[in-house]
Amino acid sequence: MSARIRVFDTTLRDGEQTPGVNLNIQEKLEIARQLAKLGVDIIEAGFAVSSPGDFMAVKTVAENVKGITVASLSRAVEKDIDRSWEALQNAESPRIHTFIATSDIHMKYKLKMTEEEVLQRAIAMVKYAKKYCSDVEFSAEDSSRTRTEFLYRVLEAVIKAGATVVNIPDTVGYSTPEEFGLIIKGIKENVINIGKADISVHCHNDLGLAVANSLAAMRNGATQLECTINGLGERAGNASLEELIMGIETRRDYYGSIIHNIDTKQIYRTSKLVSSLTGIYVQPNKAIVGANAFAHESGIHQHGVLAEKTTYEIMTPESIGLAQNRMILGKLSGKHAFEDRLKELGYNLSAEDVLKAFEQFKSLADKKKTVLDKDIEALVEEKVSEVEETYQLDSFQINSGNKVISTSTVSLFRNGKAVTEAATGDGPVNAAFNAIERTVGFGLELQDYSLKGVTEGADALGEATVRVMKDGKIFVGRGVSTDIIEASVKAYLNAINRVLDETEKSAAKGKG
Ligand code: KIV
Ligand code: ZN
Repeated sequence: MSARIRVFDTTLRDGEQTPGVNLNIQEKLEIARQLAKLGVDIIEAGFAVSSPGDFMAVKTVAENVKGITVASLSRAVEKDIDRSWEALQNAESPRIHTFIATSDIHMKYKLKMTEEEVLQRAIAMVKYAKKYCSDVEFSAEDSSRTRTEFLYRVLEAVIKAGATVVNIPDTVGYSTPEEFGLIIKGIKENVINIGKADISVHCHNDLGLAVANSLAAMRNGATQLECTINGLGERAGNASLEELIMGIETRRDYYGSIIHNIDTKQIYRTSKLVSSLTGIYVQPNKAIVGANAFAHESGIHQHGVLAEKTTYEIMTPESIGLAQNRMILGKLSGKHAFEDRLKELGYNLSAEDVLKAFEQFKSLADKKKTVLDKDIEALVEEKVSEVEETYQLDSFQINSGNKVISTSTVSLFRNGKAVTEAATGDGPVNAAFNAIERTVGFGLELQDYSLKGVTEGADALGEATVRVMKDGKIFVGRGVSTDIIEASVKAYLNAINRVLDETEKSAAKGKG
């Protein structure tokens, strides 16, 4: 089997529908740039009509990320398509993506429309989108539960109306690989003009089959795979990009000479970036990018791998750009060696950012015996989504124990001036967060707090992540330090600075 597969990444649209994820425009742009580097063919940058934030995200990605196609989702209604086009018009290669549900259950209960009405709307909206843009994708939502005869009719009609891509979503993750493969085969055999459009698939993971269903569809003729980084997405998520691509790469004997544009060495970096910015950790046993994906615990396995890697390794960590966790540099290392290592790890930072990272590395090397690649990654990624640092940590002091009420004193800098507050709390972290809230003068609803070690050992760097809610909006903050309370304080401050950044931007927009 030999075919060119297009990778349609919807991390910024379906992926952003993951509960608890709220990316700002800068973060979306950062992810879009990395997706372009990874080599995806199409980025679905948002659902332009759904909110001013989504509109701006699509527009910003369309105007700044070149060399790829940028898509915006639209229901099959004129105002959605107008708004998508408004956001997309400056893209190098724009695509309007419009959808309507075609299954009996959705038509009857959600749309309250007959088959004939849905068919006519689909045709009309593809023609409407076509007036703006030559590249139009049509999705028959809930395809896998759609009566096949009706699905064939809709697809034939929308292709006749000008759709260049027809997407077959398994919207509720209900299908199985054999069944889904047969749906695609049936489309190829029964839709007479199917040769004029690409067949795309968009699989959800409710039964854990999204990747298997997508690969089965590909074997039966689908040429576009819709997916997300780390499998993010509505409910149980979407097919994960890294699993699809490494499946194709690792099982070329089975899938044949599929051609795609993904640089697999960028997979790990992309996964880390998305996980840092969304605050959604990757489970340790997640295929390809989980922390344990290349770890061998059992003695028998370790012995086998030492004798011959392929006994238990079906792909190499290097193939996804996962650096061997080498000891890198000591505290006497110079800036040039440090910069070279950053480049080897895939970071192209500005001179100013290299200097900042180097200073952090030096202070870490003072506290930690051996500095590993993962430590460097954590330090650099703490800086990845820069935000205006309205408040900076000066110092803190905590008194805590199992028989005392925890107390904390935290001193923060604002405009070069130190402000100090003290507070009590339920444990040292809570006491520190309360003192910070006193200083900044507002409270946050803490929705999630997590702490993990970046590497092993008592002197390991700790990485804290907080997810907080302010006025109904979610903000994620991250902090790293060899001291876990300091990492937590930095994460909380990072979230607070994000809240202030967003408030200032909205206020400036209101004036302008
Ligand atoms: O899951 C789905 O059906 C979708 C469509 C809008 C493509 O996300
Ligand atoms: Zn979806």
